Amino acid sequence: MKYHISTFGCQMNVHDSEWLARALDSRGWTAVPEDEAQVFIVNTCSVREKPEQKVYSELGRIAGRLRDIPEGFAAVGGCVAQQVGRGFFERFPFVRLVFGSDGIANAPNALERLAEGSDEKVALLDFVSLYEEREQAEGETVRIAETRQAFVNIMQGCDNFCSYCIVPYTRGRQKSRHPEAVIEECRMLVRSGVRELTLLGQNVNSFGLDKGGVGVSFADLLRSVAAIPGLDRLRFTTSHPKDIAPEVIAAFGELENLCPSLHLPLQSGSDAVLKRMKRRYTRERYLSIVEGLKQARPDIALTTDLIVGFPGETEEDFQETLRVMKQVEYESSFSFKYSDRPGVAALNMEPKVSPEEASDRLTRLQNLQNAITGNSLKKQVGNRTQVLIEGVSRRQDGGGTWWKGRDPAGRIVNLALPHEKGMTGLMVPARITEAKKHSLMGERTGEPW
Ligand code: SAH
Ligand code: SF4
Ligand code: F3S
Repeated sequence: MKYHISTFGCQMNVHDSEWLARALDSRGWTAVPEDEAQVFIVNTCSVREKPEQKVYSELGRIAGRLRDIPEGFAAVGGCVAQQVGRGFFERFPFVRLVFGSDGIANAPNALERLAEGSDEKVALLDFVSLYEEREQAEGETVRIAETRQAFVNIMQGCDNFCSYCIVPYTRGRQKSRHPEAVIEECRMLVRSGVRELTLLGQNVNSFGLDKGGVGVSFADLLRSVAAIPGLDRLRFTTSHPKDIAPEVIAAFGELENLCPSLHLPLQSGSDAVLKRMKRRYTRERYLSIVEGLKQARPDIALTTDLIVGFPGETEEDFQETLRVMKQVEYESSFSFKYSDRPGVAALNMEPKVSPEEASDRLTRLQNLQNAITGNSLKKQVGNRTQVLIEGVSRRQDGGGTWWKGRDPAGRIVNLALPHEKGMTGLMVPARITEAKKHSLMGERTGEPW
């Protein structure tokens, strides 16, 4: 069958889609652009209202395409699938499979049965209480991305129930993977040529602290993965501040291939708001973690997530968020207007902030972030670094070919190189020559490796 996957949401969803594509390819299916597909798979996100709405408009478009493809059908996976479940079968009759993130391990077989006509409709919506290992390619057959970067799941789900968040309802309870399974997958990827790994979970710092735990902490796991020979760069996401262990902070000063960057969601700088969000840390505690990280690794680039307009957020609360932003000097941040989600505790919290006020706060916050990002990028000019090339840059002027990559902190660096192809996945020693608004320009200073 010819299939097309469209993916919304976080890196975990992106990673799930990549796994699903590999599993379908190994069954002889072929990934094709949307206008050639017979089977349409939509991997969905429910974290705010907007991404959820996108799913319905995507399905509307697919309905149009399926009119001319009698053997065709659609499958909906991920967080909206978990939330809406069989409701999709009624609203969109051409949807024949819904699967949540715990059900994804069985989605490839279900898709095969549906394509053969042996099943009519399938719902894979049960939560599991232990991490279910998914089939993996072995030995010689491992295909890696040209960029030589890879993601590895270390857990699934979340137990935190922050009062605004739907994720614990859509991804179920936290389930850590067995550390040996994680390390084995990492080893296999590095053996196959991967040089940058990102460990993934909703809350990596509480790895091992659930039923699936075997006494190996996240810091232990980090050390074991970092020690894999040939691994040039190691990252992880996402970190909940309340659970970050001193050993993880210290690791930034000890593990050479652990990249100097950390995504540490703040959400709000006001203790009153943090309390209502059920984040279980204070501004002071957050700032002391930042202090520790900067001591361990002075060049660490911090990024964050922020919500404006949480119910009851006053102008003064918002000002506190701006103050923390200035103090921490985030390299960049994702910021969102609070969005009511079904079933979460904040749904019933009052007073709601008006949409106009929330938009105004978001603009002010993003303006401040742009200024901070600009300053931070300017400080990089003159520095020497290593750029892992991810592909040809959109920018193409002057001599040579412009390539785009990232420095160890994750900043985008554009380099003009004499090579027209073959640079993706190589590390290029470079010096930063100029700062743009959201990226850096550099020049090559040594041989790519
Ligand atoms: N597990 C991650 C977050 C995953 S959701 C963590 O705890 O850091 C990604 C981001 O979406 C969150 O950090 C939060 O900033 C935002 N978010 C979640 N629910 C939201 C809501 N109801 N309205 C607006 N933003 C929300
Ligand atoms: Fe959502 Fe909080 Fe869990 Fe992150 S830690 S996924 S924000 S409940
Ligand atoms: Fe979205 Fe689900 Fe990820 S709600 S952010 S796809 S965990």
